[in-house]
Amino acid sequence: MIRKISSSQVVNLTETLMSFTNTLICRVALGKDYGNEYHVVDEGLGCGQRSKLQVLLNEAQALLVEFYFSDHFPLLGWVDWLRGKLWRLEKNFKEFDKFYERVIYDHMNMNNNNKSNEKKVHDIIDIFLEMMNDHSLPFELSLDNIKAVLMNIFIAGTDASAATTVWAMNALMKSPKSMKKLQTEIRGLFGDKDFINEDDIQRLPYLKAVIKETLRMFPPSPLLLPRETIEECNIEGYEIKPKTLVYVNAWAIARDPKNWKDPEEFCPERFIENSSIDVRGNDFEVIPFGSGRRICPAMNMGLVTIEIALANLVHSFDWDLPIGFDKEEMFDTQVKPGITMHKKKDLFLVAKKHVM
Ligand code: HEM
Repeated sequence: MIRKISSSQVVNLTETLMSFTNTLICRVALGKDYGNEYHVVDEGLGCGQRSKLQVLLNEAQALLVEFYFSDHFPLLGWVDWLRGKLWRLEKNFKEFDKFYERVIYDHMNMNNNNKSNEKKVHDIIDIFLEMMNDHSLPFELSLDNIKAVLMNIFIAGTDASAATTVWAMNALMKSPKSMKKLQTEIRGLFGDKDFINEDDIQRLPYLKAVIKETLRMFPPSPLLLPRETIEECNIEGYEIKPKTLVYVNAWAIARDPKNWKDPEEFCPERFIENSSIDVRGNDFEVIPFGSGRRICPAMNMGLVTIEIALANLVHSFDWDLPIGFDKEEMFDTQVKPGITMHKKKDLFLVAKKHVM
């Protein structure tokens, strides 16, 4: 990503970061970057190429937030057919299914043909296939189960880390003081290095504070995942029936003036001064990863991804607004509709390589 940005004039950071997290998830889940095999959309923005997989994912995300009459008024389900919604769902499902079949069979063939000691990356599909063939387990895993979990990982894994890193860069561009402080921290310690790695990050408290503050103000899943009550309960005098759908507004909680001083202000220092508060689901004032049994299972991976991406973006480049763009408009904080809270306007910036 850093190399690609170095060779670009104006960078669409939104697209660049989506492509980065998509590649990462592909490598972890599938062993290689399938997304890079066929680029179908090149928007002429340098780094702004989107892979076919990303286009499929975008369509899946868009379909997930549509309103379906069948969900709420089953008798009116035919309206969804008329509006072409079910056709789009079916098409997206079939394309994903074809992709997963190909990837899973690729793995099966590779494992069968690779009886030698040749070293191969052990990815999530390999682990699932081993579980599928392990008859000592107390459950049976089917190919459909594997495809469903892959869908979960793709939908949940690509967007959140990319959206958060974009929000962090947006906030830093609006707050030059914080950007300077972060650059000074990173370059002061690692100015002579090309790449900031996972070990280096442990020595960057301000970077961690910037990310926590970003997750407080811009949690990518503001309503977490819906829950359903199991039994009747009473909350502050309100009787809640069993099987009630419950949404937790993590966004509102983290901006509640009862919990936070000047909650609308981007102030990473608050996490340095009050360093006992963390975003990992134990402090209920800020729960961007949710909490309890349903907490994000990839919280650590999400955090490390954002830390590495942001540290290297800020370490390698000085950032500016492209000529002709309006500052207020570019850095505004309006959001796109969707289950993940993305910045509405793609973030376009000019990256100037930093030379020590
Ligand atoms: C900044 C990064 C991330 C944030 C803020 C985030 C946030 C969340 C939240 C709020 C939930 C719902 C938890 C709840 O309702 O209590 C969730 C669930 C989930 N996340 Fe993440 N996530 C991130 C990164 C990732 C990544 C990188 C992956 C995959 C590699 C991932 C996979 C999942 C999955 C599979 C679920 C669903 C669990 C279930 O069905 O209950 N997340 N995430």
